[in-house]
Parts: sequence; structure tokens; C-alpha cells
Amino acid sequence: MIRGFGLLLAVLFCTCLGVHRENFRTCDQSGFCKRHRNLQPGTSDYVVQPSSLRLSKTSLMVDVINTKNNVRFLLQAYGLQHGIFRVKLVEAEPIRQRYEIPIGVTLVAEPEQVELVYQGESNGQLKFSLGDNQMVINVNPLRLDFLINNEPVSSLNAQGLLMFEHTREKRPTKEEADEGTNEEGAAEKEEEKPSDDEDDTGMWEETFKGFSDSKPNGPTSVGVDIAFPGFRYVYGIPEHADSFALKTTKSTDPYRMYNLDVFEYELYNPMALYGHIPFMVAHNDKHTVGVFFQNAAEGWIDIQSNIADKSVFSNLADFVTGNTDVPQTDTHWFFEDGIIDVFVLLGPGPKDVFKQYASLTGNTPLPPLWAIAYHQCRWNYNDQDDVRTVDQTMDKFDIPFDVIWLDIEHTDGKKYFTWDGSRFGDSVEMLRNLSSKGRKLVTIVDPHLKRDDNYEKYTDARNQGLLVKNKDGNDFDGWCWPGSSSWPDFLEPKVREWWADQFSLEKYQGSANNLYVWNDMNEPSVFNSPEITFPKDVRHLSGVENREVHNIYGMLVHQATWDGLLKRSGYKERPFVLTRAFFAGSQRSGAVWTGDNMGEWSHLKMTVPMMLSLNLAGIHFSGADIGGFFKNPDSELIARWYQAAIFQPFFRAHAHIDTKRREPYLLPEDHMIVARDAIKKRYSYLPYWYQLFYESETTGMPPMRSLWMEFPSETNVFEKDDQFMTGN
Ligand SMILES: *[C@@H]1O[C@H](CO)[C@@H](O)[C@H](O)[C@H]1NC(C)=O
Repeated sequence: MIRGFGLLLAVLFCTCLGVHRENFRTCDQSGFCKRHRNLQPGTSDYVVQPSSLRLSKTSLMVDVINTKNNVRFLLQAYGLQHGIFRVKLVEAEPIRQRYEIPIGVTLVAEPEQVELVYQGESNGQLKFSLGDNQMVINVNPLRLDFLINNEPVSSLNAQGLLMFEHTREKRPTKEEADEGTNEEGAAEKEEEKPSDDEDDTGMWEETFKGFSDSKPNGPTSVGVDIAFPGFRYVYGIPEHADSFALKTTKSTDPYRMYNLDVFEYELYNPMALYGHIPFMVAHNDKHTVGVFFQNAAEGWIDIQSNIADKSVFSNLADFVTGNTDVPQTDTHWFFEDGIIDVFVLLGPGPKDVFKQYASLTGNTPLPPLWAIAYHQCRWNYNDQDDVRTVDQTMDKFDIPFDVIWLDIEHTDGKKYFTWDGSRFGDSVEMLRNLSSKGRKLVTIVDPHLKRDDNYEKYTDARNQGLLVKNKDGNDFDGWCWPGSSSWPDFLEPKVREWWADQFSLEKYQGSANNLYVWNDMNEPSVFNSPEITFPKDVRHLSGVENREVHNIYGMLVHQATWDGLLKRSGYKERPFVLTRAFFAGSQRSGAVWTGDNMGEWSHLKMTVPMMLSLNLAGIHFSGADIGGFFKNPDSELIARWYQAAIFQPFFRAHAHIDTKRREPYLLPEDHMIVARDAIKKRYSYLPYWYQLFYESETTGMPPMRSLWMEFPSETNVFEKDDQFMTGN
């Protein structure tokens, strides 16, 4: 077993540089991505039935029919406080309930509804107003336009790309198969007798790199196009290693959103990374608007910036007077499962959109002051003597720091919540020594539990039935750092409570109140699985497949850890927990870093657009590994990286186990002085940072800002992502 694992690791982590692209699906290798991407703009089959309109003071409900197959849907829309519309489209009579993310996971609370005024029906349109904003539902075909003071700023299904794959039984009955008049009947018939046409395959089973995905529920995807008339630029949908202003995806894959552990990720491409937030902002010199698509499944987003096509969008273009060259950005969003649940945030300015987004998904709680100071990390500080030496040498060189970190090697055999006794036999004394100088320790706690009968966290979770299952109903068994591992099902509140309890001083032996936590590998990373994560047909305890909830798993690990530290202090102290995987709402449990970057100038440059995207999408407490995780950067790059990072929210140096030691005092003297001056400057700015985080918590305004956030009508800065603002 051990030898097999060694071989597996050697294959996965060969020293050759560069992402193993072949480990990750392209759109062409994903059935639902292809099905949505192959749709052509045109007249939508979805039609509203206005006679079914039901109104309440704050919402409406109306039937929608797919005229191709007569499947019925319910369109619901709500007026929400601060100028937000929420639009939900669900199947009217599903065979199987679709997953909807519970309140408290992404949404901080049930959003407060406000009066939605129905202005009546005319010219085949139902008109509503919400303060200064309007929503117009075009009946045939279904299209929803959103307007600020009668000026259209966003439109759903303007291109007619809405597709909602309704729930269905795997084997059609004889009669249904004989009917064959509707699209689905035909598709199912072809399932029985596989056709040569590749686009029809993959509805009920898919294979990727020899892994089979059982897809018991068949095709379940949802998607719709969202246009931003009048906008040349859109931003957000982190995390991608790409420019801040999002690119046209005409000649690439769409931007992918599927939390993955992408080893040695490449720059400037739309591949998925560790965390995702389906929140996009469009900005022009007059308006800023946002769209939050609440869906936890794998997603892809196509983007095209055009000149508005008046033949397709005649109704929209009517609103735009004079100018014939109206820019427009067309986006197309599709997810493998779930429902259509779109929040349209109508600004009208950047500050309004950030406030609106925070009102939905919550704020970043003010971090403890030390958490925004300097963090010294490496994989690994080898033992307690190493920790003491680093601590003392930093003092000797007069380099301030507040936190030292331990990576996976500090544990007994990668069993989290334990210590390698030969190297950290006196962890409590080590913590006390750090504490005497006001310093903290962060230890890594990953969500995979070593399947070892002598490991109490594992046996406890197993015996209580808290572990994620495979498709056959047994505890899922996958490979991660400790070898054979299982994963607690963080979707269950009782599992999160169990996890939180493990952080008490009693249960986390050898810890102390100045120990804080870092959650890594929580996408989750599974070395021997398709795309290095859970197979999609892995089962959660509630019965849902991981396919339905994949992108919120890591966030729930983070939340449960946060709760654990809160609980440990009797709800008195602000916790600190760093996470690699994240989703919309992760800001409520603290810090995020951009994962395993490289010690290269290009990666230093990339920290700016990546963090601007994170800050725009509510992840304000974010940072990149100073120096770069992989490779051996030269001392000039390290010094420059410190200089840039002092103006970014989370300030931590980190390095891979195979790199040369690079604590700042090891730099040649000239660069050591540069790095030390930078770190000292960071300390001199701490009151300003603290103030910015206070502003973040109270207003939703990100501490790290693009230029347009401060200068919204300066069109020449809309594309800039090699400069940024720290506060205003
Ligand atoms: C704690 O500090 C004392 C005094 O410097 C030192 O002798 C001892 O070895 C330290 N303990 C640990 C575990 O680092």
C-alpha cells in the first residue's frame, strides 16, 4: 500500500514544471458544458403564461412553459432591500427535488423583501418597479430586462440560451418511448441505442480518463445568458489566474468554476482553481451592476464583449438613444445541477453594489490586529528548535513578525490535531514561549482523516456515521497526504458541530489559546480521483451527490473551523482561519490565499488581478504567498514581493518543502534591508489597515480596490490591473 502510494505521489508530483492540464476536463470533455455551449442564439422556447400571474406585496410567481416539450416551470421574482431583484426559475413538478443552498451557507440570512410594484401588462410585457429600478418580463419568449431609471443595464435570456434540463426517469416507459414527439423522448431513445453523434452521449453516464461517472439522475444542468447592454467590461467570478477585466472566451474554454487543486497552475487562462464565487460586476462610466448566480454545482461562463446587436436586441436598443455603437457584454452561465437563482444588484455605483452583495452573503468580520501583521510560514518548520531559532533570529535582525506557521509535517503521520512527538514534544511550552512575546502559531488542519483504527478523530467520525459515502453507500476512501483517507460530511450541521468541538484545548491535545488554524486541501483534494477531487457521484449524508454541492464543501470546512475557534474562546475572541477553497460567503470565516503560486515575476504581477477579483467578490482578507510557493526566487524578486505585498490584505511568506530556506534575514544584506523596511512599513500602516477592515465590515467596501472603484467615471482605468488602491 505504502509503496503504491509513493509511486502515485511520484506520478502526481513529478518535478517537471507546469500544470498537468490533462488531469482536468476541458469543455469538450464535459457533456453539459458542450450541450450549453452548442446552443445557438435565437428565439427561446420558454414562454410566460401571464394569466397565471400571482402577486404578493413583495414578489410574483408566474408559470413558464417550454413550448418544445411542454415542461412547466415556475418563475419567481422578489424585490429585496437596497435595490436587488431576485429571480428564481424552478421546475413546477420535478420528479426529484433539486438542491437549493440552505440559508446561512451562502446567504447570511433570508434576504429582506421590500415592496415590488406591479405596473401592469402592455405589449406582451409585465412591468414592475422597485424604487428607482424596473424589471420588465417579456412574455413570448421569456426575457427579463432590468433597468435603472428606465435605462436597461442587464437582461436575462436576451439571446434565448435558457436551458433547464428537467428531472426525468432513466428508462422511459414503452409509451413515452413510442411517443417520440418531444425532444426528451427522442434523446432518451438515442440513449438506449447510442448514436454516432457525440453531442447526444454523456446524458446518463460519462467517462473521464478511465473514471466513470454514474449520473443516476441523468442530465440535470441549468443555464441562461445574461447581457449587460452599455457595458464593455465585466469583472469578478474568481478564482482564475487571469486579468481583472474578464476576457472574451470566443477562442478559449469558458471560465470554469469547479473547486480544484490545480498543481502548478498556469497564468492567463480560464481554468478552474481552488475556490469560486459566481458573482460578476459590470461597470461603465454611469453605472455599476452585479449579478450573483447562487448555485453550488460546477459552472462555466462564456463572455463576449460586442457592439450591441440591434437585430437581436431591438427592444433593448430602443432604450439607447442616438449612439449606434453601444458596447454590450454578453455572458452565458451554465451549471451542472441545481436551479436558476439569480440576484441582480442594481448599484448604481460601485459602493452600492458592494453593500448590496454584503447584504446577501455577509461581511468580513474585523480580523484581530495581529492577523493583518506579518506571518512567517514554510512547509515546514522542522521542529520546535527550528521554530525557536526563527523566532529569535527575526528578533536579532529586528524584523517584526506576529505569527509562525506549521505545515503538514508537524503532525504524527498526517493525522491532524496530533503532533510528531519526536519533533514537537513540548508544543505547549513552544506555544507559551511564543505567547510570551505576544506571538501566535498557526497549524494546518485538513479535512481528510487518515483511515487508521488508532486515530481517534477518524474512528469517532466513522462510528458516528459522519463520513461522506461513495455511490454504493460505503465510507468514501480516497488518497491524500496520509494515504487512505475519509472525509467528514461538512454539509451536515451536526458534522460541523462535531468538527468545531475538536478544537477545544481538551480535544486538541498540545494546543493552546494562541494556536490558530489553516484549512488546506479542502476543495477537497483527492489524489487518486477524477480531476483530483471527489468523484461527482460521491454521496453526502442527506443523499445529495457531490455534483450538486461541490463548490460549497470547502467553505463549510472553513466555517466549521471558525466556529470551533469561536467556541474554544467561549465566543469571546475573534478567530483566525485561513482557507484555500472558498465560495460566496467564505468572507464570514476569514482569510483566503491564492494557493500554490510560483516564485516568478509573472506570478508577482498576477497577485494584483487575482486579489482585485477576490476583493470585488467579497473576499477581502486575501493574500498570495510572498516569494511564491514553488521554485527558488532570487533575492531581488523576494524583496520586491514584500514591497508589493505590504499593500495587499493578507501578508504571509510561504514556501514549498523542496525550496531553499528564505526567511527574510537569510537574504543578502542589501535585499534583507529592503524586505525589512517593507515589513516595518506594513507595521506602520497597521492602523490604516485596521480602519480599512472596519470599513469592510461595516460597509462591504473592499480594502484592496481597482482604480475604477475610486474613480468610476475615468474610462481609461477600467482595464488597469497593474495598479491598485489600498483603501481610497
Ligand atoms: C522555551 O524558551 C526557553 C527559554 O528560551 C527555552 O530554554 C526552551 O527550550 C523553550 N522551549 C521550547 C519548546 O522551545
